[in-house]
Amino acid sequence: GNFTLITRDGGAIPLTGRADVPLMEIIRDAGHEELIAMCGGCMSCATCHVYIDNVPAGQALPEMDADEDAMLDASDFRKPNSRLSCQVPWRSELSGVTVEIAPEE
Ligand code: FES
Repeated sequence: GNFTLITRDGGAIPLTGRADVPLMEIIRDAGHEELIAMCGGCMSCATCHVYIDNVPAGQALPEMDADEDAMLDASDFRKPNSRLSCQVPWRSELSGVTVEIAPEE
């Protein structure tokens, strides 16, 4: 399955998901260093902030836990569709989502 990465300059880049691998790692592995992900996925940096849209009908992203919610609350750019991309593992049922890199804090 695939998803579309939206970069800060508005580019739309198709990426291939890998089962159970966090979106953050897939984006980084594809060479998109604009997604800083400073802490490497241990949920202490929030520099992996993205906006996720176009979740397929009948599908849902994994529930956000309290720690992720608190990290996102500290962002000036939080939106209803904000997530930390290190906390969202890929699964093929999510094919078609768009993952937009949030502005730099
Ligand atoms: Fe640091 Fe996601 S990579 S919170």
